[in-house]
Amino acid sequence: PMIYFVTPTYPRREQIPELIRLAYTLLHVPRIHWILANDLKACNAYIDGLLKRFGLPFTHLASPMPEFYRRKKPMPRGVANRRAAIQWLRQRNITNGILYFGDDDNTYDLKLFSEIRDTQRVSMFPVGLIEEYSVSGPVVRKGKVVGFLDSWVAERRWPVDMAGFATNLAYMAEYPNASMPYKPGYEEDLFLRSIRLNLNIIEPKANNCTEILVWHTQTKNRERTTLRISNKYLDDRSNLGTL
Ligand code: UGA
Ligand code: MN
Repeated sequence: PMIYFVTPTYPRREQIPELIRLAYTLLHVPRIHWILANDLKACNAYIDGLLKRFGLPFTHLASPMPEFYRRKKPMPRGVANRRAAIQWLRQRNITNGILYFGDDDNTYDLKLFSEIRDTQRVSMFPVGLIEEYSVSGPVVRKGKVVGFLDSWVAERRWPVDMAGFATNLAYMAEYPNASMPYKPGYEEDLFLRSIRLNLNIIEPKANNCTEILVWHTQTKNRERTTLRISNKYLDDRSNLGTL
């Protein structure tokens, strides 16, 4: 089956380098369709050109976050984008394939793709570099998922990261109301509830969830640091002048 790799993205200084980095990972993956959903009112022509140049099968969506949510703190990041991708798949009645939500700033081991490709219903696996514990993922006993390890459980039934699961579209099609609500922190949990997940059907991947094949890397915005350093640079220069 085809893997539909859904990537929310948004305009900021790091956007283009992140997309280039991700594209050169995806170029190593056979039978993949990249759904790039940008948090912008219209498709950015430069990104469109980039996507064409990579030569990957792709769909470029404009999926702006509604203004109402943009003013909220915290914001539901990437939700409008993922909802647009789900809608795109649904409108085309694509039920043959694997759906994976892969943010633009994560790091993906190529082994992840061969692991998720044979997802029958919902597969799960650990994600590295998540908050305090530095890993979030299922606990597996005798080949079955029996619980979860996560730094922030917060009464979630499915305390997992967005990058920690894959869904077979045929399974998802059984739940026409499947959706991702605009609820910061609870997007994964509520999506998985909307497809009526239960523990017994979860397929553990990554060697019974003992290997990390995806990392929640974050490209830090260095603007503040840069400002601090340049102020220091100016101070040092003026000090030099008074010597
Ligand atoms: C973590 C999870 O990894 C995300 O899957 C989850 O959506 C997010 O928390 C959340 O629940 O808020 P995190 O690294 O904290 O992600 O957030 P970002 O990487 O900044 O954003 C998640 C995705 O949404 C990214 O692909 C990003 O490009 C996109 N995004 C972010 C937007 O489309 N618009 C924004 O204003 C911000
Ligand atoms: Mn991120």
